[in-house]
Amino acid sequence: MKMNSAVLAFLAVLLAAVTLQAQVAERPMPRIAKKDGRYALMVDNAPYLMLGAQVHNSSSWPSVQTKVWPAMEYLHVNTVEMPVYWEQLEPRQGEFDYALVDNLLKEARAHQVRLVLLWFGTWKNGSQHYMPEWAKLDPARFPHMIGRDGQAVDSPSPHSAAALEADKAAFTALMRHLKEADPQRTVLMVQVENEAGAWGSVRDFSPVAQKLFDAPVPKELLAAMKVKTETPTPNWLAAFGPDADEYFHAWSVAKYIGQVAAAGKAAYPLPMYANAALRNPLHPGAAGEPGTQGSYESGGPTDNVLGIWKVAAPALDVLAPDDYENDDASYLKVMELYHRDDNPLFVPETGGAGKERFFFTALGLQTIGFSPFGLDYTHRAASRSLNQGEPNRPQEEFLAPWAMNYRLIGPMMREVARLNFEGRLQAVAEEQGRVVRTLPFGAWEAIVSFGAARNNRGAGNPVPQGRALVAQLEDGSFLVTGYFCRVDFRPAGTEQQRKTQNIVIGTQQNPSAMIEGKWLHRQFLRVEEGGYENGAFKAQRIWNGDETDWGLDFGEEPVVLRVSLGTY
Ligand code: DGJ
Repeated sequence: MKMNSAVLAFLAVLLAAVTLQAQVAERPMPRIAKKDGRYALMVDNAPYLMLGAQVHNSSSWPSVQTKVWPAMEYLHVNTVEMPVYWEQLEPRQGEFDYALVDNLLKEARAHQVRLVLLWFGTWKNGSQHYMPEWAKLDPARFPHMIGRDGQAVDSPSPHSAAALEADKAAFTALMRHLKEADPQRTVLMVQVENEAGAWGSVRDFSPVAQKLFDAPVPKELLAAMKVKTETPTPNWLAAFGPDADEYFHAWSVAKYIGQVAAAGKAAYPLPMYANAALRNPLHPGAAGEPGTQGSYESGGPTDNVLGIWKVAAPALDVLAPDDYENDDASYLKVMELYHRDDNPLFVPETGGAGKERFFFTALGLQTIGFSPFGLDYTHRAASRSLNQGEPNRPQEEFLAPWAMNYRLIGPMMREVARLNFEGRLQAVAEEQGRVVRTLPFGAWEAIVSFGAARNNRGAGNPVPQGRALVAQLEDGSFLVTGYFCRVDFRPAGTEQQRKTQNIVIGTQQNPSAMIEGKWLHRQFLRVEEGGYENGAFKAQRIWNGDETDWGLDFGEEPVVLRVSLGTY
């Protein structure tokens, strides 16, 4: 058949349009960036803060459960963490079913949120419960660990080459599919396995594992851990003494997961992370010794083996704490320990009444995301595992303290992420006994007080729930927001003056300081309440008089201020 030139020209235009459409639809790859020691998750080429929530383990199969979306909307999340299950993805070896993943993509897009997918593969909470049936029925290729007593443990051995290859193949298939199905980059990150490690034994004592344990420790690990022994090729016991069992298991699990991650990344290089069931950072017990005080899961990225994981699994961008610590001091210590020069802070799971305010502490540690767990059920269901002993409350009341965070930060998420990446932002939450906090910003100090009385002397809120965020926009101009707190500012002099002068802090008037013999008092030049629209701050109300005379007070309503300061 002959085509005339008009038809050919039309087809060429059509082809160009289709190609252009495909190009337009393909968004930049999400990635983790580092600058001046600070990290950001870059989404669509700009810093992004994951205001997240994780659904319950069984909430996305066979389809997203009905309570998920209303809860997510109420919470104002921008990112939802959802599991993808090996047993669903590969019901028969080599045959893949992408229906669940495709449904998650479709639903997330319809609800205008991004996703973090959780690969429930070889490990889920230390066990292999999400392995497909064909793997569960083949213990020769998919062996359980063997405990010290010779009994099988409810945890997969990391020493099976066949299991590793099978997991790599399945995970790679998932990533390859995402590459094709998600040019919009609905999925921002992937968690490789879930809380890997073993609860029931410190390591695998099978003959295969024992042989490796008695063999020399890999050189790169010795170098990274700066191990000095008489022999240059020590085995695990010689190199690490009483920590040998635990370090060996951490290395073995990390090495396995690092290879799964690398294989997936080769197909589609999304940022990847592993999450940790923590050990108590202040009073740790022993790894994998069930029934003993403080015993914790052995082999996962707990704070004491982060260095091992970094060497063993370089394909992982982040090692992330599931922060469920009960007491505030432990909870906060965890975030400090995972905020490292070689590791951005990301809190992929958290929970517990009263812990909501620590989202602000995480912001102060430049977190790239924060994600309470299991908020898609009623409190009654959630209380089974997470909030024992608390009275049942209606779902909205249970969600409200979490929702407050995202309702406030959501509309200016991009600005907050950018200011944090640029090192201009500080944020704090109320802690027992720390009711006044001073945040240094060069020539100014922000004074945050909780349960404020006159002169910024905090008394603490009746229930500690205060949260504050201050970011420097220009020299004397700040973005200020928070809940249940008062924020004020005091002149701090230049860096040179702070070093050489004895700066006297005034107490009697507006916040003031005597610098080089001269009193400088804070003066509000302009205080605007408003918010960001398309990247620009829009003022809706000007504060003065009663609203500014005692400092800037934040209650339970979401209020954002832009403040310009001078001195007299
Ligand atoms: C931590 C796990 O990672 C989650 O999948 C879930 O099991 C929670 N614990 C709470 O039960």
